[in-house]
Amino acid sequence: MNPRNGGVVTVSGLLALLVCWAAAPTNADNQRPQLRRPIALVLADGDTRLFVANQRSGSISVIDTKSRQIAAEVSVGRKLAALALTPDGTRLLAVDEEAGELLVLRRHGLRLETPVPIKVNPGPVSVQVAADGSRCYVASLWARRLTVVDLAAGTSGLHVVQTIALPFPPRLQLLLPGASRLVVASSFAGRLAVVDLARGEVESDRALPGHNIRGLALSADGSRLLVTHQVLNRLATTSRDDIHWGNLMNNCLRELPLANVRDPRADLLKDSRLHYLGDVDRGAGDPAGVATTRAGRVILALAGVGEVAIGGPGEGGGDRLAVGSRPTALTLSPDDRWAYVANTFADTISVIDLGKKQVAAEVALGQPAEPGRADRGEQLFYNARLSHDGWLSCQSCHTDGHSNGLLADTLSDGSYGTPKRVLSLLGVKDTGPWAWNGRVKELETQIRSSVQTTMQGRPLTAEQAGDLLAYLQTLTPPPGQGRFRASDAKARERGREVFHRQACDNCHAPPTYTSTRTFDVGLSDEAGNQLFNPPSLRGVSQGGPYFHDGRAATLADVLGRERHQLKHELTASERADLLAFLEDL
Ligand code: HEC
Ligand code: HEC
Repeated sequence: MNPRNGGVVTVSGLLALLVCWAAAPTNADNQRPQLRRPIALVLADGDTRLFVANQRSGSISVIDTKSRQIAAEVSVGRKLAALALTPDGTRLLAVDEEAGELLVLRRHGLRLETPVPIKVNPGPVSVQVAADGSRCYVASLWARRLTVVDLAAGTSGLHVVQTIALPFPPRLQLLLPGASRLVVASSFAGRLAVVDLARGEVESDRALPGHNIRGLALSADGSRLLVTHQVLNRLATTSRDDIHWGNLMNNCLRELPLANVRDPRADLLKDSRLHYLGDVDRGAGDPAGVATTRAGRVILALAGVGEVAIGGPGEGGGDRLAVGSRPTALTLSPDDRWAYVANTFADTISVIDLGKKQVAAEVALGQPAEPGRADRGEQLFYNARLSHDGWLSCQSCHTDGHSNGLLADTLSDGSYGTPKRVLSLLGVKDTGPWAWNGRVKELETQIRSSVQTTMQGRPLTAEQAGDLLAYLQTLTPPPGQGRFRASDAKARERGREVFHRQACDNCHAPPTYTSTRTFDVGLSDEAGNQLFNPPSLRGVSQGGPYFHDGRAATLADVLGRERHQLKHELTASERADLLAFLEDL
């Protein structure tokens, strides 16, 4: 750490370090070898200072954009997910996903004061600030909530004013001009909700054909909402042909008229435009951050292939430049001359000269660290180059290790024409045997076939397969929706009894709530297969749709319409109790 601290770092020492650093911007954090994982960035003071939130190291890097040097790096939290600047430029707002906090940092030029933490709903992943700086909005993933924080009262009086329930696990948000409406996108499925901020409620929740929404921006003239996402075609197969011609996974930029987005009764897709990114022989896997210049050019991060695309007005793709590994977020200088791109796995920022369409510099965020096995596996997981021609990655279907909730016709079950719902990998290490039919006895076998068969990529080396395995082993099940509610413990307990009385545990046995066997539960696929391995019920309320073909939209449908494995009819209160129990898993 800071040599002036003699290498001794205590909590108070750390605070002292931050304060002393705040006094003089010479700090040694960026000399310390560590994985940083830049995930969000904001420009301040015109185009002179760039602040970068680092996910893994929980630090903020400060870049002097003129010299393209790191001016400082400050440890502020545990796992940063997002960053914003108040309109007056005086405060940075960082979101700490692991600590469940919004961190408010007063700023003086390059200097940052010690952060003031504000507890928000657990698992915050994004933040937006009102145009007048009076409030900010923080979206929390598994808690499915938006926390509204009052910023106007000054640092001492910052407080949470409201929590708004969201209809899905959110990730990105965007405030619409006029500040009274906020668009929130699902982290996994193709869903967009619009929140009426004055009334504090969700005004619409509509489907967008697609999934994996990773970029939201307004068009140059403010009349359209730009959305980057993917479309998985369940009628295509994971054959070489369908991947080669881009039939299986489309990487897209969608332009939606803002008037439709605002009007809860409008058809979201009417007069919208869809741009397909990538070409045959050159896929554009996993599009992420998007921004537009005043002249209407569109700048896109292609996270899966390590590139940035610069398109002309109204066109999607355009010229492509190689940047560092997994570019996610990007921001433009106020004069539209430069684009700054966060390369999450490279731990660098690319500076792109938009006039020349060239990468002008790649700024390293500090001393690199040697990634461990699981870190290397994570990089492979998000790497579309593992697939034939870069069309898709594991992330394209198992978004952030979870599931996009869609069906894909992989050869995993031995046949085409039998699309199956993408399984969540959160908690996958404990749920063998794998695949819906339970035929896969080793997780590594499934990993290899995912690359070779599902993605038509080159066989993994032994080291790569081991790395991916190490990464999958780090994934844990999501907390059930019930964990965030002040739900009735007695109802859950009664639900547990119903679960046992109905003998659900014969096939979904605790603690993993699955089984090593396969069962015929009266459902069959298109090829007549009837034996399936029960999915684990840990975190089941965060998944859906349910069953191998996604036939049940909700858990209530699993028990109600589908009457799945009910030994005897449930009374209304038994059903409510069983649901409370399942939602708590
Ligand atoms: C085109 C979408 C798609 C892509 C890309 C994809 N998968 Fe899958 N994956 C699926 C589907 C669908 C299933 C279930 C298939 C079945 O069992 O028939 C599945 C199943 C799995 C399973 C078994 C899970 C369980 O609980 O049984 C693992 C593990 C897995 N995938 C890992 C990966 C990895 C690692 C990658 C990247 C190398 C990957 N997948 C890429 C769609 C995909
Ligand atoms: C005889 C074994 C068996 C019993 C008993 C059983 N299940 Fe299942 N369960 C399965 C199988 C197999 C599947 C997957 C079927 C499919 O998708 O085709 C499944 C799927 C589910 C799913 C959907 C999971 C997902 O991710 O799609 C839920 C929820 C579920 N079971 C809950 C229950 C509950 C609650 C009970 C008791 C009322 C129960 N199960 C009893 C075998 C069983």
